[in-house]
Amino acid sequence: MAVARSVGKSVGARPMWIGGKRVVGSKDRVVDVLDPSTEEVIARVPDATPKEVGAAVAAARAAFPAWAATTPQERGRVLFRIAEKVRAEAAILAETESRNSGKPIVEAEFDINDVATCFEYYGGLATKVTGHVNPVPDNALSLSLKEPVGVAAQIIPWNYPLLMAAWKLAPALAAGCTCVLKPAEQTPLTALMLADWLPGLGVPDGVVNIITGFGETTGAALVNHPEVDKIAFTGSAAVGKIILRAAAEQIKRVTLELGGKSPNIFFADADFEAAIDGALFGVFINQGEVCSAGSRVLVQRKIYKHFVEAMTEKAKRIKLGPPLARATKMGPLVSKEQYDRVLGYQAIGKKEAKVAIGGGKATGMKKGYYVEPTIFYDVPNSARIAREEIFGPVASVIPFDDEKDAIAIANDTPYGLAAAVWSRDIYKALRMVKALRCGIVWVNHMQPTYVEAPWGGYKQSGFGRELGPWGIEEYLETKQVHINLNEAPIGWY
Ligand code: NAI
Ligand code: MG
Repeated sequence: MAVARSVGKSVGARPMWIGGKRVVGSKDRVVDVLDPSTEEVIARVPDATPKEVGAAVAAARAAFPAWAATTPQERGRVLFRIAEKVRAEAAILAETESRNSGKPIVEAEFDINDVATCFEYYGGLATKVTGHVNPVPDNALSLSLKEPVGVAAQIIPWNYPLLMAAWKLAPALAAGCTCVLKPAEQTPLTALMLADWLPGLGVPDGVVNIITGFGETTGAALVNHPEVDKIAFTGSAAVGKIILRAAAEQIKRVTLELGGKSPNIFFADADFEAAIDGALFGVFINQGEVCSAGSRVLVQRKIYKHFVEAMTEKAKRIKLGPPLARATKMGPLVSKEQYDRVLGYQAIGKKEAKVAIGGGKATGMKKGYYVEPTIFYDVPNSARIAREEIFGPVASVIPFDDEKDAIAIANDTPYGLAAAVWSRDIYKALRMVKALRCGIVWVNHMQPTYVEAPWGGYKQSGFGRELGPWGIEEYLETKQVHINLNEAPIGWY
């Protein structure tokens, strides 16, 4: 377990938020929260007991009828107030996020802006949820109405802590659902800050509950709770499978975002300088701890050698450093667990392929979970470093001959979250867009993400779509209403 269980001294112990009350949890179930750049404990949060999880679900259940009955206008206004508060507190939120997750402060600032934008978007969308009139052939009025699913259990990862909370909470609240959110055990701090502000922003007690703890305890208790109607999860494929099995018991609604092994594909006719930048940005942003990381870099053989050299040369410039330093381009990985995992893959990679740069822990950093930005090349697509999600700054560069070859390699993966294609040939680029089996395709860029556009994967990257109108749909049921307009009896018997 990456995060040590420990009892006692309160390094800023943070309570949970359940039914409009601060809940400190029990003394013998505590999670240490670290600064991954210093390895120091910066806070402690409860590892919620099943009873506390039950209290959170009960609070969400009790709050559901009244919240579902509020007008969409009122729910929208609540979301706008949350967005406004996030903007007002952006500096402290970004600093906390950066310190707790290890991501560079400049990236954390972008994240917090996106958090506010997400609440604004769904604040606006709350009043645009409409049903349909169905064109049935009888003398009747047939309607479909949209209604909130109920109590949503939302389990999120540590790579974009508050942003993932926003992606989950905003559409659910707009739809009229109530929520029990569990942040990752490594990064609960910004979600708990948000919890502190909720009563002042007009969020009724019980509508949002934030519980903390380990996945195997708190997370599992939440997923298995019979009063949960829907589970929204972002994280590993392994846990996604556990959740899917658990959800079967009550046929809970489930959406899963499970990461991937996304190809970033470079044709010889791409703008070379832009391509090099795009290859590095695609895989090294946020230390590579990105579900859509372009971790397989597919390069056409005509430019392959030159590409690997140029990418390597530019990678030397990536500045590792303390997350809060504005010049830092890469911070530490989030936890010891993730650090060990990435070091493990670097060791595997050295046996499976050639090293262009990196391949180990970062030298020159006294403390912290820093690893070197690493580029492997001549990687067979059958290699583990080409098939398994590493979730760290590790690129696997793979050569290809032509379009057909690129498609075959790109799609030869159990995952299907994202891909990017770089070419100046619009015909070829668009053929690739159609051929790639994944939920997101960028052309001549990789990673820009917008709340207006759908996010989610094919294949083992999960199912369901977040963001945009797709995101709110996942929190809505559709009710068919048939209104007979014939006043006469049916006349069947
Ligand atoms: P994880 O999937 O174990 O954790 C994600 C969330 O799920 C956390 O909130 C955790 O507490 C919770 N969780 C864990 N086990 C659970 C269970 N049995 N029931 C309910 N909730 C549970 O991810 P972890 O261990 O932090 O990272 C392992 C790998 O997962 C990474 O190396 C990466 O490959 C992948 N990952 C993918 C992410 C994505 O954005 N798709 C995000 C984080 C990790
Ligand atoms: Mg795990």
